[in-house]
Amino acid sequence: MRVDAGSGPALTALTLGIETSCDDTSAAVLHGQGRILSSVGSSQTALHAPFGGIGPELASRAHLANIRPVVAEALRQASAGLDQIRLVAVPRGPGLIGSLLVGINYAKALCYSRQIPLLGVNHLEGHFFSPFLEHPKIEFPVLCLIVSGGHTSLYFARDFGRYELLAATRDDAAGEAFDKVAKMAGLPYPGGPVIDKLAGQFDGAGHRFALPRLSDGSDDFSFSGIKTAVLYALAREGWQPGEAPPEDPRLMPILKGFQEAVVEQLVTRMEGFIRRRPPRSLLLCGGVACNSLLRRRSLALGERLGVPVHYPSPALTTDNAAMVARVGAFHHFGRGRSDSLDLNADTAWSLEAAGP
Ligand code: KG4
Ligand code: ZN
Repeated sequence: MRVDAGSGPALTALTLGIETSCDDTSAAVLHGQGRILSSVGSSQTALHAPFGGIGPELASRAHLANIRPVVAEALRQASAGLDQIRLVAVPRGPGLIGSLLVGINYAKALCYSRQIPLLGVNHLEGHFFSPFLEHPKIEFPVLCLIVSGGHTSLYFARDFGRYELLAATRDDAAGEAFDKVAKMAGLPYPGGPVIDKLAGQFDGAGHRFALPRLSDGSDDFSFSGIKTAVLYALAREGWQPGEAPPEDPRLMPILKGFQEAVVEQLVTRMEGFIRRRPPRSLLLCGGVACNSLLRRRSLALGERLGVPVHYPSPALTTDNAAMVARVGAFHHFGRGRSDSLDLNADTAWSLEAAGP
């Protein structure tokens, strides 16, 4: 069954965004195509922390428990009732199948019972749009790095919807490498913010880790080699997780060097592409884009090459529903598109395939 999107873009209507693709249950209410009236999230960090990574089954069960109160709270904070919602936007991929299905089915039920149009959006397109929430006048073409726990990809986009993949990781995502290195060192999950903080506190020199070189000369990313090199470096230092405080002088240089190696790889690739095909803006999106060294080095790169750099504030950099609402309202519904209630999850949906 299809609920009609109406005759044209509803510029002043409210959009409810729902995001459950991984381990955060989030909902947001957006006014028109940009102003965030509320953005609420329920993090599952404490649930997954004992395992050092996300348990997919645990994640979907927690989404089931959290989705109703999270949506209710987003509506309450926006002082909005469901009768004012003109569109519900929800990611249909990529992500964890069980997690995606909770959001999709909840959104479908809302749309069916209230006769509201439904829009399935691409989670990565949500990240792509996240800097526009706070900086609507970003100029195209853009070079966009999406770097999170599940993705590390670099895109060139001439305009909204015209995404060209330039490079992607061959193995781990950068955020996954942060989380796994933290686990090896006995640090809490998620590892990215912890390593960022510890590395920032250490004034000494970082351990030197070699940058990966792919044998086929490609510009793709690779992080599994650095992760293994960290494992050996920890073993050489006789590091036993839990035996010493994380600020121990044996651990700090390794964490600092690891972060430097990851950031250097990301920034070197961005520099190469900017020189070959100069964009008018550089965007950093996804959880790892919160990293303070990556932000600093990217700003310095942008300044050196004359390219403005944009990234969202931290709450809009990690997974959130405001970015989902924004891409749904502006990019798709604003152009007359909506989905039928047959909408299904697509766990591997690429950003390149998400254009109009
Ligand atoms: O975008 P996100 O919230 O979820 C995914 O779609 O994956 O990203 C989560 C990832 C985790 O791997 C986390 O360790 C990493 O982002 N992260 C960071 C920082 N903050 C979050 N990595 C490095 N430095 C940070 N400050
Ligand atoms: Zn994400």
